[in-house]
Amino acid sequence: MQQKVDELNLKFEETPPQDVLSWFASEFKDKIAFSTSLGAEDQVITHILTGMNSVIKIFTLDTGRLFQETYDLLDITQKKYALPIEVYFPGTSRVEEMVKTKGINLFYESIENRRLCCHIRKIEPLHRALAGMEVWITGMRKEQSVTRSQAALVEWDPVYQIIKLNPLIHWTDDMVWQYVKNQKIPVNDLHSKGYPSIGCLPCTRAIQPEEDVRSGRWWWELPEFKECGLHKKH
Ligand code: ADX
Ligand code: SF4
Repeated sequence: MQQKVDELNLKFEETPPQDVLSWFASEFKDKIAFSTSLGAEDQVITHILTGMNSVIKIFTLDTGRLFQETYDLLDITQKKYALPIEVYFPGTSRVEEMVKTKGINLFYESIENRRLCCHIRKIEPLHRALAGMEVWITGMRKEQSVTRSQAALVEWDPVYQIIKLNPLIHWTDDMVWQYVKNQKIPVNDLHSKGYPSIGCLPCTRAIQPEEDVRSGRWWWELPEFKECGLHKKH
């Protein structure tokens, strides 16, 4: 599989995201899905996908702890693009058991607790959302963090046993925001209030302009731990 992935990276080295997405959509048909967290990059991808002929499954993982602004944007986006964005929720009994044994704000107490919460609220639903799929599209960019600097356009994800496609992997922050502006794409109100990267409300805070873009995520943890497990480390 690595050979195929290497070939695809070479093939699409200079190709714009629109064309990469079109090729994958026609090649993998109903076996390709896009996970959106409604972040600016994800909104760019949603915009591109809605302008294409092929229909790609778009889904979001509602952890139950998101910002109201994120829910508002989900609603706005579905209406603007007349688009069904499938919403996956965590399993009730697992959340109930976790909260009963570890407390409602367990994530602040240890990395182990934080990973458990991310596992139950994100990873398990992601497994369900990707079941039967061969390609998983994400909005990851190299620039986003130290843990993503080695990420490629096309990757093999051994955890989910799936080809991962990161169409904006080489885009800079400026490119994302220029595209958002030019195409009048709706984005989360929180971005203009000091939140460049938005996850769950209790685990995301505003940052100062000079700070690292992901420093507001799990701010109490060291940078090398700052992944929820959705994306393997590079
Ligand atoms: S995270 O792993 O730290 O949470 P980040 O917020 O940077 O990830 O988002 C990177 C990509 O992961 C997004 O572009 C999106 O494809 C996917 N992703 C993250 N959170 C979610 C979510 N709640 N629902 C769906 N996809 C998500
Ligand atoms: Fe739980 Fe925080 Fe992970 Fe959200 S980001 S799933 S609230 S630990």
